[in-house]
Formats: sequence, C-alpha cells, structure tokens
Amino acid sequence: MKINASRYVAESQDEGARLVIKTDRKELREQLKTIHLSAIPPSSVVVDAGCGVGIGSEIMLELLGRRHYPSKLYLLDLSEQRLADAKKRLAPFSSRIKIIAKKCDIVDIPLSADSVDFIFCRFVFEYLNSPKKVVNEFKRILKPGGRMVIGDLDTCAMAFYPIDPELYNHLKQLFKQIANPDYDIAVGRKLFSFVESSEMQKIHVYMLGHNVIHGNTSYSIKKNWEMKLDKIISYISKNKNDLGFELKHFKEQFLLFLDTPGLFSYTPYIMVEGTKE
Ligand SMILES: C[S@@+](CC[C@H](N)C(=O)[O-])C[C@H]1O[C@@H](n2cnc3c(N)ncnc32)[C@H](O)[C@@H]1O
Repeated sequence: MKINASRYVAESQDEGARLVIKTDRKELREQLKTIHLSAIPPSSVVVDAGCGVGIGSEIMLELLGRRHYPSKLYLLDLSEQRLADAKKRLAPFSSRIKIIAKKCDIVDIPLSADSVDFIFCRFVFEYLNSPKKVVNEFKRILKPGGRMVIGDLDTCAMAFYPIDPELYNHLKQLFKQIANPDYDIAVGRKLFSFVESSEMQKIHVYMLGHNVIHGNTSYSIKKNWEMKLDKIISYISKNKNDLGFELKHFKEQFLLFLDTPGLFSYTPYIMVEGTKE
C-alpha cells in the first residue's frame, strides 16, 4: 500500500513541536489510569498507533513501571520525523524494552495476526477516512484476549461560555471549512459504533473532559490554538475560500478571547475499549 503522509491534514514542519506543546501530561496520565493500563500483563506486546512524538508511550511506560514493562513496544505513524522523535524520547527505556518504529498507515499494519496484547490509539481517528477498517485491522493483530483502546474528541473545541455570538459563529464557519473526509471533528460519538460493529467483546466507554478551561487559559492551550488556527487559515487560504471575514483578524480576536475572565470551556474526550475473543 502506498504511504502518503499528506493525508494527515495537520501535517506541517512544526507538527511535532505542536504535539509537544499541546500534550497535557497530567490529562494523559489520567486517561491511561482510567482505562486500567496496569491491567495489561507484564512482558506484553504493546502498540501505540499514530504515536506522534511518543509522549503517550512515554507516559504508559512511566505508569507501568519496570516490573510491568512490556517486552515489545511498536510505534506506528505515517511520519518518519515523528517516529524518529518518538524513538529519541523513548531511548532511556530501550535497554529494557524492544522499541520498534514502523512507518505505516494504520489501516494496513505490518504486524502478524494475533500478535499484540494491547493497542492504544489517541487523537488519530479524527483524521482517518476508513475508521472501521482500522478497528478491524486492530482486531486482526490483537491476540485472543488482547485489548484495544481508541480515544478521541467530540465536537472539538466548540463549548465556550461566555462567548460573543459573532466570534462563535466565525469559529463554527472556520471548522466547517475544514470538515472533510480526512478530518472529522465529531468522531468521538462514533467510536462506540466502530468498535461495536467489529464484534469486539467487553466493550467499555469512558468519558472525560479535554482542554478544560476555567478562568485562566494555560499557555499550552493558547499556543496550541494559535498553531491550529495558523494551519486552518493556511488551509482555507490555499483553497481560496472567502468566508466574508478577515481570517487574521479573527485569529487575533480569538486569541484575545481566550483570556476572557471567567471563561469556561471543555471538549468531550471519549475512549472506547474492546477485547478480542
Ligand atoms: C494528533 S497526533 C496524536 C499523537 C499521539 N497519539 C498523541 O496522543 O499525542 C496524530 C498522529 O497520528 C498520525 N496518523 C494520522 N493518520 C494516520 C494513519 N492513517 N496511519 C498512521 N498514523 C497516522 C499522524 O502522523 C500524527 O502523528
């Protein structure tokens, strides 16, 4: 299968840096505890699917601890650069764990059937155009009794209070422009159905909040918004779409808005777990 990194709509030179800035390690730790990461057997074979720069894997290993380390950790991603960054990040663990980076599309994973104990896949489904095929692919590589967890956002960054109605309307228009088969901002609500239809067993759903703002918006949330808006604006400009308002002005206004005293915001983050019989 031809690998084409441009299918990842967020692709850019600084995507690795954006992932580092945006990742809230405390939040990620909570997510991994919520899905009972420590229940995976010691010496497991673990897959981090769409691993980015490997922060998810790093936190998994920290949480599991030496006595519970996997024997093998596969890092899968479309981007050679991010895989290299992930390998570098995980180098301190490499004397104890076999860490293997594979550049691939997770719709077609170069691993044998029935070979993996645990798959974690976070913030990737929003970018997939064949999400059900990917769940079936996860099922194929899992050992009987193996478990997968997929987690993603629902209606990404749309709940704010208070917000000026015009600013909100422009924000919605912006996101509408980038909604395409390669970017689904409401994929969170679909994850359960993807896993259900794959006939996995012991399905569990966990709901948490992501990027919860109450009062002070953190530097990482603001910086992530800035980088995200730059990408969205460049995408819209490239496609020469006229939204009837000035995009750069919108960006400035929106970043200022994030400092609104008393602002509350959240994005639902949904994780669905399934086990192969
Ligand atoms: C938003 S990042 C998430 C990274 C990491 N999982 C995390 O939680 O921080 C999405 C990653 O998935 C990768 N990706 C997107 N579509 C993919 C695909 N079809 N196959 C493999 N990797 C993919 C991208 O290259 C990117 O590194």
